[in-house]
Amino acid sequence: MRDVRRDAVLREMGLAPVWRLRAGGEGAAEAIEVLPEPESAPVAAGADQGGGAWSPPAQIVPAEPVPEVRSMRAAIPVRDLIPRAAAATAPVAAPDRRDDGDPARAGRIARMGWDELESDIGACRACRLCEKRRQAVPGVGDRSAEWMFVGEGPGSEEDQRGEPFVGAAGKLLDAMLSAIDLKRGENVYIANAVKCRPPHNRTPQADEIAICHPYLARQIELVRPRVLIALGRPAALALLDAEISIGASRGRVFHRGEIPVVVTYHPAYLLRNQADKAKAWEDLCFARRLMRELAEKA
Ligand code: URA
Repeated sequence: MRDVRRDAVLREMGLAPVWRLRAGGEGAAEAIEVLPEPESAPVAAGADQGGGAWSPPAQIVPAEPVPEVRSMRAAIPVRDLIPRAAAATAPVAAPDRRDDGDPARAGRIARMGWDELESDIGACRACRLCEKRRQAVPGVGDRSAEWMFVGEGPGSEEDQRGEPFVGAAGKLLDAMLSAIDLKRGENVYIANAVKCRPPHNRTPQADEIAICHPYLARQIELVRPRVLIALGRPAALALLDAEISIGASRGRVFHRGEIPVVVTYHPAYLLRNQADKAKAWEDLCFARRLMRELAEKA
């Protein structure tokens, strides 16, 4: 991505003065510098990405700089953060236990291909969330992606359009992806812990996440991502079968079976807590270093 575009995207994330990765090489992801405030008005991410206007306008106003970013754990090589030490303390997923006490249903879903899976999700009436949904929202993106992002559940716009993360939180997610040179649909798959909108956008309950889990599990099996990113606590619960605090779990690599899981804040939370956008940026840099490390090992 051109620097100018990255800068615009980071400004959209509220990271101004802009934190920029230095050009060139693996070490580049670990080194950051502060750029001066732009003289011109910030550019809407959507304008540069063809993704529509950024909304609400307050989100494009640069936030206060967050100096702690300078002391990010960049000095620690990712190789020291993956498997061994982290795995010893991080919860390890036990997917089968969550399959809502209906092993026959879970087994049936576990054998589905994409088409059958998506139509089964569309027709699902296994939990109360089906009662108020307009439509189920299975997932979107590259079905062979290395990156898989998991959110909480569809909101109103997603329920209307049948695609995850298309509302305000989705715009921020797109900007976050763009900031690490990723793009929806290109080497990225996006899904949710639950496939139907919880009424009034409430947080999905643990039993709803459990009942929907076989679908997420099958999506992960079909995509076979190299890295999973949990966006918020419900996503972490779905992926790791553990109630974790995002703040306390950042910068650690969890595992779901063989697949590393990195946790970060949910974009909707970031829209309400702009100061934490810098932490999300750190987390994405961390995930990207992890991805590079894994790619080198492969
Ligand atoms: N929030 C989510 O967690 N998922 C969506 O698809 C939209 C908003």
